[in-house]
Amino acid sequence: MAVRRFDQVELALLQEVLDSGTLSGIAGGKFTGQFEEAFAEAVGARHAVAMNSAMSVLHGAVMAAGAGAGDEVLCDPVCVFGAVAVMYNNAIPVFVDIDPVTWNMRPELIEEHITERTKAIIVTHVWGLPAEMDRITEIAEKRDLVVIEDCAHSLFATYKGKQTGTWGDIGSFSFQMSKQLALGDGGMAVTDDEELAKALALNAGAPTFKAVAHDLHWNYRMTEQTAAIGLVQLERARGYVEELIEIGGLYDAAVEGFPFVSLQRGPEEAVHTFHLWGATFRGETVGLSPDDLKRALQEENCKLGVGYTNMPAYKHPVIAQRLGYGKGCPLDCPLYGGSGNEYPDGLCPEAEYVLPRIMAASTFGPREFHEGNAERLRRALERVG
Ligand SMILES: Cc1ncc(COP(=O)(O)O)c(C=O)c1O
Repeated sequence: MAVRRFDQVELALLQEVLDSGTLSGIAGGKFTGQFEEAFAEAVGARHAVAMNSAMSVLHGAVMAAGAGAGDEVLCDPVCVFGAVAVMYNNAIPVFVDIDPVTWNMRPELIEEHITERTKAIIVTHVWGLPAEMDRITEIAEKRDLVVIEDCAHSLFATYKGKQTGTWGDIGSFSFQMSKQLALGDGGMAVTDDEELAKALALNAGAPTFKAVAHDLHWNYRMTEQTAAIGLVQLERARGYVEELIEIGGLYDAAVEGFPFVSLQRGPEEAVHTFHLWGATFRGETVGLSPDDLKRALQEENCKLGVGYTNMPAYKHPVIAQRLGYGKGCPLDCPLYGGSGNEYPDGLCPEAEYVLPRIMAASTFGPREFHEGNAERLRRALERVG
C-alpha cells in the first residue's frame, strides 16, 4: 500500500509547535534543527539545510557554487528545474544530452561542454534512477566544478551503495506533494562541506534578516510546522519507498515481452526509488506512433502518461523565447560572452527522441489499483502490438 499516512503522531507534534508559541526555527523553535539533523543522518550527509521548496534549494545551491552573471552551468535537458535555477542566478544553462535508456546525463559528453566559464554541473536523478555519479564527480574534480545533485525524485536511491545527494557537493531534495517524502511543500539541501552549508543557510536562516544587509539573499525558510511533520514522514518514507519499488515491479512485469518498450533502467548498482515508473515507447520500430499507444491506453482505461512535456528543457518558453528577466537577461546578459546560450533543434538528440516517447506511471496509491492498472497496461500493449 503505497499510501501516505498523516495521523495523530504529526498532530501531537503540531500541537507542540502551537503550544510553544514559536512557529519558526530562527525564533527558537526546535523542530527545524531536528529535522535537518535527522535528514542529514538518514541520507548519510554531514549537514542539511531546510528550505521551503527544492527550487529554493537549487537557487541557493547555484549561488553557493559561485555561478552568476557571465558563468555557465551544465544541466540535463529532461527536467527544466536545474536550468531555471541557473537562470535565477543570471547564469547560462548549457545542456548535456542524456543516455537514451536511463534518461540521465551521459558522463562521456560532459567534458566537451566545459569552458572557462563553467562553474558547476546540475545532475538530475530522473524519476529516482541514479545517474553515474562516480564518473561525473571524477570529471568535476578534475575540472574544478561544483556538482549539484537534483534528488527531487530520488530520496533513498543509491548508486554503488551510496545515496544520491551525497556523491556531489550539494544534494537537493523536494518535499512537494508528489514526492516520496511529501510535506505540502519544502526542500532540503545536504552537503559534507561546512562552507557550502553556511552559504546555503544564508537563504534559510537568521542572517537574512539581521538588521544590516550585506549580501543579497532570499528568505527561503521552512516553518516549524513543516519540519515537525517532516520528522514523522522521514521515518515513514523508507516504508513508502519499499512499496514504490514493489509497485515499479508490477509495471516492469506488465511490459515484459514487448520489444518496442524499453525500461528506464541501469546503470549497474543503481537502486531506483520510483518517484515515477518509466519506460520508452519505441513504437516506430514496429510502425506505431505514441498516439497509437495513447488511444489503446484510453480504450483500456489505463492511467499512464505518454510523453513528458514533449520538449527538452531548452524548448520551454522561458528559454526558447528568452523570457527570463526581460531586457535580454539572463540568456543575453551583456556580461556573457560565450556561445553556450544558443539552443538549436537537435542540440540534445537523445532527449528530443525520448521525451515524446516517455511512458510514465505514478507509483503512489493502493497496490490493488496498480495491479489493475498494470494489467490494463499489458492489455493496451497487446492491443497495439
Ligand atoms: C527534478 C525536479 N527538480 C526540482 C523540482 C522542484 O521542486 P519544488 O516543487 O519542491 O520546488 C521538481 C518538482 O517537481 C523536480 O521534479
